[in-house]
Amino acid sequence: MTAARRTQVAIVGAGPAGLLLCHLLRGAGIGSVVLESRSRAHVESRQRAGILEHGTIEALRAVGAGERMDREGLPHDGIELRFGGAGHRIDFAGLVGRQVMIYAQTEVVRDLVALRLTHGEPLEFEAAVLAVADIDTDSPSVRYRANGREQVLHADVVVGADGFHGVCRAAMGTEGVRKFEREYPFGWLGITADVPPSCHELIYARGERGFALHSMRSPKVSRLYLQVPPGTDPNSWTDERIWGELTERLALRDGSWSLRRGPITDKSVTAMRSFVVEPMRRGRLFLAGDAAHIVPPTGAKGLNLAVADVRVLAAALGRWYATGDGVALDAYSDTALRRVWRAEHFSYTMTTLLHTDPSGDPFEQRLALSHLEHIAGSTSAATTIADNYTGLPLDL
Ligand code: FAD
Ligand code: PHB
Repeated sequence: MTAARRTQVAIVGAGPAGLLLCHLLRGAGIGSVVLESRSRAHVESRQRAGILEHGTIEALRAVGAGERMDREGLPHDGIELRFGGAGHRIDFAGLVGRQVMIYAQTEVVRDLVALRLTHGEPLEFEAAVLAVADIDTDSPSVRYRANGREQVLHADVVVGADGFHGVCRAAMGTEGVRKFEREYPFGWLGITADVPPSCHELIYARGERGFALHSMRSPKVSRLYLQVPPGTDPNSWTDERIWGELTERLALRDGSWSLRRGPITDKSVTAMRSFVVEPMRRGRLFLAGDAAHIVPPTGAKGLNLAVADVRVLAAALGRWYATGDGVALDAYSDTALRRVWRAEHFSYTMTTLLHTDPSGDPFEQRLALSHLEHIAGSTSAATTIADNYTGLPLDL
């Protein structure tokens, strides 16, 4: 037998989008159930994003999930762009008066999960959604498998926050749906290492050997990335080779900087892709976060876009439930997509500026270097980077 129950908003996926949404809705007095296919341990340990925009920081504080972030997170006032063997600082605080925060996605997810459990509200792990039905009616539902049996959750609205590989995007069907996609001819080999960062701020480096990024997780843990060919097996790179390559790519011409090495505790390769689906809604099914769009990680935008989507969606649902006014809800897809496309453009620009494509067009390589020099020498060009990196307003 299939068991059935009902909630106001059924949320598929307990990543940053689904988890923040359930808290925002609770704040507006709206009930929800979050269904997540993976285990709590898995969701809380996936190494991913590290940079929180100003608006993301504010949203986490507003739902009461900012306490540990404010204690342990590392506020940053700028980043360094390194190319031609020299460093150029982009001063966020001076240019746009905003900061970003280094606080890992794993920690954001842990804080949001703990808060949900403290509230005693429904968040089910190992509950895999199999199908979404009746989205063109006012009583959509999701069918899911948990504890070895199939169950049905009826709702007023279903939110697909189930990431790029989830089931909700496909449930929108194909009629009137458009997809935009770009694959890049490289991936990122990412490592976490038990060694204090060798810099105070992030370093994004472009060189003839390819891109490298020095980031961090805490005063004792570094996080670094290397551009590698797509589909690279992370185990084909020895630790020695990784440190050697990072040292070369991050070096300054005058030798005034050196990279600290330490034990590597995590090693993985990420593909680089841009993707957008339009619209982000059909009937009573709304998509949010990676379910609707992907950016290459060079602009540090993925998690922040997921957060921005659900802030717009929660406000629109709040208005609809409180007053019956569906204007903002009807505008959700257009409102979210305006910001999504700005972040797509920024992430594409950062990616093409900083990576080298060995078989690429030499003309484009020169353009990228010329653009980097322009950013280093022009306050208005640097301000555009600072404005986008620290985060654009919700409603553009
Ligand atoms: P997800 O985090 O993917 O969550 C979706 C959830 O849905 C998952 O838990 C999944 O298990 C679950 N799910 C899937 N299918 C089902 C189903 N059928 N039923 C139930 N549950 C399901 N972003 C930044 O902003 N800044 C950065 O610095 C940054 N760096 C990155 C570095 C790397 C190496 C990578 C890989 C990504 C990075 N990102 C960054 C991107 C960021 O991690 C993602 O954009 C973010 O996780 C999106 O959140 P989400 O909630 O939309 O999706
Ligand atoms: C990270 O710390 O994981 C990180 C930081 C900045 C990026 C991407 C990833 O652009």
